Amino acid sequence: MDYRELLDMSIKVLENAYSPYSKVRVAAALLTDCGKVFLGVNVENASYGATCCAERTAIGTAVTEGYTKFKAIAISSSLEKPILPCGICRQVILEFSEDIDVIIGDENEYKVYKMGDLLGHSFKKTDLSV
Ligand code: THU
Repeated sequence: MDYRELLDMSIKVLENAYSPYSKVRVAAALLTDCGKVFLGVNVENASYGATCCAERTAIGTAVTEGYTKFKAIAISSSLEKPILPCGICRQVILEFSEDIDVIIGDENEYKVYKMGDLLGHSFKKTDLSV
């Protein structure tokens, strides 16, 4: 699957975002190594801190279905400028690999970042002595 198509899949589900408080719609399309795609949208809550970002919704669904090897994640939003993943989502994506491609953009253009470049000098599982 090409990254244009992956980003378009996320744009398609933007309308399903549940964001009555911020009114910002965010969607993610997560591509597994084996070519499966999991979608996610932001799910806000009246207790604001309980909000789940689109990226973490997608990752949670994939992991629930038994998938933990990811090639790329495309992120779109209703904002004018393309948005990059928040700090918590960077940490959560990085958990699965520094090599994951993060695709940011809109219907017209996109950019690809390496997850490891978006969160440098990070704390990761290899730092745990378990
Ligand atoms: N949001 C995401 O879904 N992903 C991000 O990486 C950044 C922020 C959501 C959370 C909240 O529902 C809205 O965007 C405004 O912060």
